[in-house]
Parts: sequence; structure tokens; C-alpha cells
Amino acid sequence: MAKGRVLSGMRPTGRLHLGNLEGALRNWVNLQSEYECFFVSVNWHALTTGYEDTRELRALVRDNVMDWLSVGIDPQKSVVFVQSEVKQHAELYLLLGMLSGIGWLERCTTYKDWLDNGYEPNYGLLGYPVLMTADIVLYKADTVPVGRDQLQHLEMARELVRRFNRLYGEVLVEPQAKLTEFPHVPGIDGRKMSKSYRNEILIAEKPEVIQQKVRRFFTDPQKLRRGDPGRPEVCPVFALHNIYTRSETEEIAADCRSGALGCVECKDKLSQSLIEALAPARARRAQLERNPQEIEDILTDGNRRAREVAEQTMQEVREAMKL
Ligand code: TRP
Repeated sequence: MAKGRVLSGMRPTGRLHLGNLEGALRNWVNLQSEYECFFVSVNWHALTTGYEDTRELRALVRDNVMDWLSVGIDPQKSVVFVQSEVKQHAELYLLLGMLSGIGWLERCTTYKDWLDNGYEPNYGLLGYPVLMTADIVLYKADTVPVGRDQLQHLEMARELVRRFNRLYGEVLVEPQAKLTEFPHVPGIDGRKMSKSYRNEILIAEKPEVIQQKVRRFFTDPQKLRRGDPGRPEVCPVFALHNIYTRSETEEIAADCRSGALGCVECKDKLSQSLIEALAPARARRAQLERNPQEIEDILTDGNRRAREVAEQTMQEVREAMKL
């Protein structure tokens, strides 16, 4: 049986942290054995909210891709590429734009959220789901691993595909969202780990910095000193032990509850776990940083492979639309 095809993308808007690792990348890595995968750094999408200052954009794309490779995205298996290097995305975006009603686009909740957050309503923001549809359907991907926040975009992609196929014939493939459960990853302040809260631990964080950041982590506010009984279920440090100190979580929980384990010691243990868990990624990343040409070669090859598939689809699209 032919393998299914996956496409997923990430906006290069910041350095990647443990939330990105557990929420998306871990999943991408695992999908590589079962699917033919395309992973794209969507730098045009990053412009929708960040078009004014683009000084860091090119470096961020490289930085993100280094993180992907460091945690196990394998360019031998998967196509790793950059959106702006495959112009077919722009062409299909334009064509799909004709099928996208303004009212329909305005009902998109992420669009409304952006406006609520003070972004001016512009054409790029409004067209975000149309560009995302182009990203997916150019590769005839049937499976799109995304977070819950992207489900509406996926539903819009499906609607656009059905509309296109009804008008011009069965050319495009309707993609399915693939939601995977992932563990809760709190940041330093106990809220969801997120760049906008500035509470993150980076995938590429140096061991000393991991230690410093973990020391600042919030813990159960009722546990003031060693000996006080703690509540692991409300403690962000415990939530991370649950991911990174898997084999000892029961013991840690019991010792926290009894008071035998103090927070300082518990945090030192977490630092050790994190440093160990990230060691292979750190080593691989150091190797990539020593030879920046390697990333360039990987992207050049990925862009070329992506372009081939995308151009094939565009030929069918142009033919179907009589262009
Ligand atoms: N909108 C996605 C996000 O913010 C990024 C994205 C762009 C994407 N194009 C995609 C995700 C195609 C999956 C498939 O997370």
C-alpha cells in the first residue's frame, strides 16, 4: 500500500522551546516512519503579523530548521523546505483566492483574534487560511498534524478543496487534520509554555541556563519548605518530570506529597533530566553550527524536491482551470 502523505508547517516567529518540541516536533519525528513527509518553514505566513521588521527572519528560519534536525527530522526521509523558495505556493494562493468569499474569510476565528489583539485588518491576515490551503494541497497531503488551534484552518482548507474540485474536476486532495494528544507543558510561571509569555526553555538552551531557569520555576504555593506536603498535580515542575523523568514520577509524587522531597532538590533533579534528554539534540546542533553550509545544502535539496511535486500539481491545476 502506498504511504500516506503528511505536510506540516511552522511559522518562524521565534526560537523553538519545549512546548514546540512536545506539541509538534515529537509528533513530526514519529510520523516520518509511516508517511512520506513534507515539513515547511512558512516564512510568508510569518510576515502576516511580522512584516514590519524582518531583520531576523532569514536567521530564524535556519535556527528553527536546525532545531528540527537536531531532534530527529531526517532530511533523507523527509522533505524539509522553505515556503518562499517554492513560488508555486504564491500561484496557487492567488488562484484559490478567487474561490474565497470575504464573508467566509472574516468568520475565521484566528483572524478575529488577531484583530482583537490590535493587528490592523489587512489582506495578508485575511488570506492566511488560503495560503495555508495552498501549502497543503500542492503536495496532495492527506494528513496534516496540527494543534487544536489550527482545526478551523483545516476545515477551511477542506471546504476550498471541495469547491475547487466541484468547479474544475477532481484535482486536489481533501486533507485530514491529525490531532495528537500531547502532554501539558507549563513554562516557568506555570502558564502554558509560550514565547509570548516569555516563560520558555529552549530546545537549544545551554545546560547552565536550563539550571537557572528551572530554579525560577513556580511550584505548589502551599509547599513553602521541605517537610511541607506538596501537591504534584498543581506543580509545573512535576508536570515536566512527568515528561522528562518518566521512570521516577511515582516516587517523586509520593515524596513530594509526604514532604520528604524538597522543591530545591526536586528542581535539581528536573534540570538533570532535561539536560540529559536534550543532550543528543545539543550535540547534533553543535555539529550543524560548526558547518552552516550543511543546513544550506539540506534546504537547497528540500526546496528542489518540494518544487518538483508542487509544479506537478500546478500543471494539473492550470490545465483544469484552462489557464
Ligand atoms: N498556521 C500554522 C500554525 O500557525 C502554520 C502553517 C502554515 C501550517 N501552513 C501550514 C500548518 C500547513 C500545517 C500545514 O501553526
